[in-house]
Amino acid sequence: MSETERIRRLYDDRAANYDRSLGLVERLVLGPLRPAYGSLLNGETLEVGIGSGLNLPFYSPAVTRAVGVDLSREMLREAEKRARELGISITLIEADAVSLPFPDASFDTVAVSLALCTIPEPATALREMARVCRPDGRLVFLEHVRSTNRLIALLLRALSPLNQRAIGCHLDRETFDLADGLGFSLEQSQTRLFDIFRLATARPPAVPRVTLD
Ligand SMILES: C[S@@+](CC[C@H](N)C(=O)[O-])C[C@H]1O[C@@H](n2cnc3c(N)ncnc32)[C@H](O)[C@@H]1O
Repeated sequence: MSETERIRRLYDDRAANYDRSLGLVERLVLGPLRPAYGSLLNGETLEVGIGSGLNLPFYSPAVTRAVGVDLSREMLREAEKRARELGISITLIEADAVSLPFPDASFDTVAVSLALCTIPEPATALREMARVCRPDGRLVFLEHVRSTNRLIALLLRALSPLNQRAIGCHLDRETFDLADGLGFSLEQSQTRLFDIFRLATARPPAVPRVTLD
């Protein structure tokens, strides 16, 4: 079974209990960051790895069209329930982040929260996010990464294989360094808990233009 298929099944199985499983991390760390993440979404907006839709309560009227994709059908079902309860109109599509089913430059905002830690090929997913984002659009990230504190980073590195086997999630990815290396211009960010959690925005990498003489 591929790692992507394993993750799909893990999240299908976790879907009903996903929200509860976030426990204290959601209450103390993510809870306060989600409204800030929501306030950065603007215009035609895509959320990649939308999961159960925990960010939906923070979508503002600035979001003119909402689309969410996820690998797991059961997570999408939870997102659909939440959107219905909130009266939010959103198109939910089962899709892999590494091949997004949209033409180039389709969205003003492409956002992701806590999924680049899990997606097996984060560089490919980042390139896809950039591809579907308009050149003057914005990427919004709420992710957990390796801590800048060396002791905590060592601990995360030690625990990461276990966590990855259990729930598909890497604890020590350097997602923002990866995005930086791919040419994303990181613009603003705030971090929490030894810099593990980070909310950031970025402009997509400039697409090189071919000029013919
Ligand atoms: C930890 S959950 C985060 C859910 C939600 N964004 C949140 O903030 O609570 C990770 C989500 O990413 C999805 N996911 C993992 N790999 C994916 C992929 N390759 N393509 C799309 N979604 C993926 C999982 O199915 C899961 O719903």
